[in-house]
Amino acid sequence: MSTLKGKDLLSLHELTVDEMEEILELAAELKAMQKAGVQHHLLEGKTLGMIFEKSSTRTRVSFETGMYQLGGQALFLSNRDLQIGRGEPIEDTARVLSRYLDGIMIRTFGHDKLVEFAKWADVPVINALTDLLHPCQVLADMLTIREHLGKNLKGLKLAYIGDGNNMTNSLMYGCAKMGMNFAAATPKGYEPDAEVVKNAKADAKATGAKIVLTNDVKEAAKDADVLYTDVWVSMGEEEEREKRLKDLAGYQINKELLKKAGKRAVVMHCLPAHRGEEITADVFEDNADVIFDEAENRLHAQKAVLALTMGD
Ligand code: CP
Ligand code: NVA
Repeated sequence: MSTLKGKDLLSLHELTVDEMEEILELAAELKAMQKAGVQHHLLEGKTLGMIFEKSSTRTRVSFETGMYQLGGQALFLSNRDLQIGRGEPIEDTARVLSRYLDGIMIRTFGHDKLVEFAKWADVPVINALTDLLHPCQVLADMLTIREHLGKNLKGLKLAYIGDGNNMTNSLMYGCAKMGMNFAAATPKGYEPDAEVVKNAKADAKATGAKIVLTNDVKEAAKDADVLYTDVWVSMGEEEEREKRLKDLAGYQINKELLKKAGKRAVVMHCLPAHRGEEITADVFEDNADVIFDEAENRLHAQKAVLALTMGD
């Protein structure tokens, strides 16, 4: 039986290297089964609750479809409709929902809210994005890198360019676990979370990965196998838009920067993308096959997480 059974997925830092490998292996297997039309009802009769306090296209549709393909069902629960949106305490909501559901997926603002929810819930809780972390996206990203650059991720270099946000934090955790070298170029004042950096460096020590944080985009991009970026203005930061566009100008993936990366480098983006801001339209289109594989792989990676945490 998997060590993931019954566990939460709040952060990649909490997974062992073997657990992360197990998720990626099963994701690849489930993807192949789905493509071949082979039924894989690993969660028959199970229900996943999906609490959303922020917008979503990929996360909602991939979790919902994923549960259906696994023989179960998913419930979309917006905080606009739940009593939690009117002030019912997290500890009550978590205990009530645990009586009906077999797993709960949450997209919210503060990471502490997710941790609190998981503390009170008796069923697996999955982080579907907080202001701090987005682990499901990075599992899909690792699956995509395996498909495009080969199964052995160890020693590859991923360079993140842009705002030091939830994606930067989670990619750092993911790379450290998989033994991939990670470099992030962010402007002053937009660095990744200090505690995540400390934890990721400890993980990196164990796997032999290197972590480099810089303000210099060229230094980060040099010889990279993967160039990665995300929006300059994340959900909840809309009021800072003007300042962010000014401060982050220059932290863009474009043709010029791509010349610094390795010859076979791929460009990735978790989406949604803002062409002309964090990435130019030409670089985006040149890498569209990888970027949309990445979006598709949300489905397969999450199905593996659901099956391993909620399955019998
Ligand atoms: N990448 C991602 O999480 O997309 P959504 O916000 O559309 O779910
Ligand atoms: N950093 C972005 C990621 C969206 C998938 C946000 O939090 O809005």
